[in-house]
Amino acid sequence: MVSSQPFKLNKIELISHIHIDQKIQMDFFTSILNTIGSGATAYIYASRLRDPQTRPNTLAGFQLAESGAVPFLTNLAERASAERDTWLAEKLTIHAADEKRHGQIFAHGLKQLGKQVMTRAEMKQQTEQSEQKPKNPSPFFAKYYCDYDPLSLKAENIDWLVFMGSTYILELDASKDFTRMARALSDWRSHCAERNRESKSRNLQQSILSVAQDETRHAAYLYEALQRQLSPIEVDEIVTEWRKRKIDAMFAMVGEMIKTGGNSRSLVKDVAPTEIEQPAAQLVEA
Ligand SMILES: [Fe+2]
Ligand SMILES: [Fe+2]
Repeated sequence: MVSSQPFKLNKIELISHIHIDQKIQMDFFTSILNTIGSGATAYIYASRLRDPQTRPNTLAGFQLAESGAVPFLTNLAERASAERDTWLAEKLTIHAADEKRHGQIFAHGLKQLGKQVMTRAEMKQQTEQSEQKPKNPSPFFAKYYCDYDPLSLKAENIDWLVFMGSTYILELDASKDFTRMARALSDWRSHCAERNRESKSRNLQQSILSVAQDETRHAAYLYEALQRQLSPIEVDEIVTEWRKRKIDAMFAMVGEMIKTGGNSRSLVKDVAPTEIEQPAAQLVEA
């Protein structure tokens, strides 16, 4: 599809890379695969959140993913500003601030469990001490961006349409996934006898719902950004392309989880008891 050369594709070149026989709307088969793939990932995430054994690592994974997006989005906002696209620069600045807050929400959820994410140095030390070889960091992203040279995906190089199309699908689906996870926590709460634990879980559930609302807003501005540059048919073609890539990536990730049993490496460590209690309300209200 797209070669390893650094890409600065214009919209016509990008669209010419998309299969000509692709249908404008998601076809029936794609739709079925999407439903199956989304159901599988939602089931896995929900059960990992409910299971006290896997819950800390699941929250830690979300914290790392949300916080990890902040430098990339900040750099993109600066690039948009340098290119005099003030509309996009403003949206990206807000987007970066939202993702930072999302990272804090998951960090807070972890803290309530008496845990926090390990530092980079601690994770490195853990890998060195373990017999296990380090795994492919993300089979999902390897598949989602297959054919793209990692350098071409950096904030200073990425083609705007690639960023907008790929991130639109991720944000849209993240919104649905977080809503499902919040529902899973609600089921968990109804089986939870301990009052203190229930109130913490309710707080986390509300925070996750607020994350889901932000992700919907992110998807909306990215779709609008595509509409500002492309015709409706071109927008549909790009969205269809990234939807298909997302389905392939989801199955790659689920396959890896089934094969390996998920990430057995711990991402968390215990927090000192004095650091644990903090007011949580402002995280929900932000
Ligand atoms: Fe987020
Ligand atoms: Fe987002």
